[in-house]
Amino acid sequence: MEPQPNFNFDQFDIKLETESIGRNFLYFAEIDSTNAILKDKTSKNQNGTVVFAEKQNAGKGRFNNTWESAKGQNLTFSILLNIDKHLKDKLNILNLGTAQVLASTIENLFQLQVEVKWPNDVLIKRKKAAGILIEAVSLGANIKKAVIGIGLNVNQTEFHGEFNYPPTSLKLELNQEIAREKILAEFLNNFEELLQKVKYKPQAVLQSWRDKCDMIGERICLNQDGKLKNGVFDDIDETGQLLLRTEKGIKVINYGDVTVIH
Ligand code: BTN
Repeated sequence: MEPQPNFNFDQFDIKLETESIGRNFLYFAEIDSTNAILKDKTSKNQNGTVVFAEKQNAGKGRFNNTWESAKGQNLTFSILLNIDKHLKDKLNILNLGTAQVLASTIENLFQLQVEVKWPNDVLIKRKKAAGILIEAVSLGANIKKAVIGIGLNVNQTEFHGEFNYPPTSLKLELNQEIAREKILAEFLNNFEELLQKVKYKPQAVLQSWRDKCDMIGERICLNQDGKLKNGVFDDIDETGQLLLRTEKGIKVINYGDVTVIH
């Protein structure tokens, strides 16, 4: 028999210490995409609303990929943020910071070594445990809201499809079933703190991201819509863009998928 979704709201509530993030919590057994529901411009959801789904029928990944996640096994959720003047130009930094905070949350809860891959993947032993998709909601030329969508593989042990980085889950790494509620609550607590840092100490957020990234200094291949560029991952700049060292000098990269060359 298929395992039944078993999210324990009390366990989640007890651990949630935020002021606004996750205080409006919308739980769905099945939905197309948690990002899509929050991106709807007509929705009146408040700042910090979290939409959580046990199953997504059209989960979205970066570069128009799909995000497959087995029902009731993982964490697939999105957070709605109002973009004020302090966050407006810092979505890149928020993107990197979210990955770093997710990596640190897992590391602290499970004593696992977790790293980030530019811009916002979370890897355990060089396998992908989580992905993040940030989408902006604009009115005219202005970004009014952002939706931060997160998929973390928790108890799934079989993955089908083709992957650039092989997938993993917490259960695969720890050999035991893992409760999802505490991870979600802890992450949201840390995410609320991150927002203040992104607003007022953005360079500290980038430094924490660098500290969690083992790929800086390594030879990488960057894939931009099928166009490949090789070079050395020199650093990130003060806005979170990747600095790629090539024979022709340093190139500033604002999107793409990165693979380490061994
Ligand atoms: C990636 O390609 O690595 C990003 C994956 C993001 C998946 C999450 S799951 C919850 C949220 N809803 C979606 O449709 N996508 C994001």
